[in-house]
Amino acid sequence: MTLVDPALLRQTADLAIQHLATLESRPVGARRNVSELSVALAGSLPEAGVAPEQVIDDLARDLDDGLVASPGPRYFGFVTGGALPAALAADWLAAAWDQNGFNAVTSPAAAAVEAVAVEWLRTLLGLPADASVGLTTGAQMANVTALAAARHAVLGRVGWDVGERGLIGAPPVRVLAGAEAHVTVGQALRLLGLGSGTVVEVEADGQGRMRADVLARALAGGEGPAIVCAQAGNVDSGAFDSLVDVIAAARTHGAWVHVDGAFGLWAAASPTLAPLVAGAEGADSWATDAHKWLNVPYDCGVVAVVDATVHRAAMAMHAAYLVRAGEDERSNSDWVPEASRRARGMAVYAALRSLGRTGVTALVERCCALARRMAAALEREPAIAVLNDVVLNQVLVRVGDDAATDATVAAVQRDGTCWLAGTRWQGRAAMRISISNWATTEADIDRSAEAIRAAARAAAGRPPNEAGQP
Ligand SMILES: Cc1ncc(COP(=O)(O)O)c(C=O)c1O
Repeated sequence: MTLVDPALLRQTADLAIQHLATLESRPVGARRNVSELSVALAGSLPEAGVAPEQVIDDLARDLDDGLVASPGPRYFGFVTGGALPAALAADWLAAAWDQNGFNAVTSPAAAAVEAVAVEWLRTLLGLPADASVGLTTGAQMANVTALAAARHAVLGRVGWDVGERGLIGAPPVRVLAGAEAHVTVGQALRLLGLGSGTVVEVEADGQGRMRADVLARALAGGEGPAIVCAQAGNVDSGAFDSLVDVIAAARTHGAWVHVDGAFGLWAAASPTLAPLVAGAEGADSWATDAHKWLNVPYDCGVVAVVDATVHRAAMAMHAAYLVRAGEDERSNSDWVPEASRRARGMAVYAALRSLGRTGVTALVERCCALARRMAAALEREPAIAVLNDVVLNQVLVRVGDDAATDATVAAVQRDGTCWLAGTRWQGRAAMRISISNWATTEADIDRSAEAIRAAARAAAGRPPNEAGQP
């Protein structure tokens, strides 16, 4: 065995390139399910090893039908970004370099690139100059990290060191969140021992925005340490809590404010859209994703905390053997729950450097314009109703009743022109369309809208080519 096998790496690059070249033309959904794919992969663990080039060839062949063209331009499921060319290439390098992103001793390179990348993120997202920033696996762990800092801070203010003493016997912490808060906020609270069932659920309006007046009353009705979980960008409607009002209410009662802005926080990168996140800089912590709207390959989330001391106290670990490069050198692990991890700052740096500030603005604004175009195209079909105000990149639609909506989702997925998934919005079936990919064009939207309209017509029992054609 040699340390470097150029033929294998070139063969792998060729396979990757061939796959990327099919993204625009292959059916967007997978063609085989897990059990079918497992048949090709399974068998008992080989007694003797198989040549690496054979392993890679077989892997690429056996998994091809199970690949989802989610980095492609017509994947509108969940909230899913693609992979910008520079970000993908930097990630390849990061894998080849195989740096442990733990701290500046395990890899000065990983620490340096992350230091620059997080500074650029902080600036782009309009966060306070001294906020500390870490790169997590995703917004889920960014929410965990931020809420761990929140828990540390609010209990610290009443003289309880939660890091040292834990939660048993601690003063109760009140957590308030909008009724439409993302499920990962509840998951974070569960993991942190705060519980998701004890959250004071604050009524949301028809778009999913937490009502700040109801929040103010709820805060006034109790006392003690409190954390308010606000949202910038509802996963279904894209709606934003009024952060100015939410933060004002929280401040009156000394509560910590966390903003879950997994994709919505990126509105700050556009002067046109920034009013949606007005006031966000006044919060105490923020969670967002780079693998959504920044279009870096999975995985990368971003957490920021206004008070670096609290952030570090909640996350940093110390052991004699975990030597540090020095107090001024960034230790990536001080800001996230993980210890050893991949150097995910490489892809973030490459994405931001290749786009520049204007490129990020254009990416965010383009996706929002395409979402409006999609909504307008779908609204021309009598069977389809757009349920949300399309303020960002999310379009939420319904076709007749629940059954017709679910049938439309299934038909669109089968058709393969584009991919989207269903949800339940305020108790009724809906389908979600999220435009988050750097490569999506107007032609992709028009083609996809036509496929969705045809599926909706069939599901609603309307004849083809009925009114509603552009
Ligand atoms: C508002 C919000 N928060 C958190 C998340 C979780 O993000 P991730 O899956 O990257 O952890 C999402 C995912 O869509 C989201 O929309």
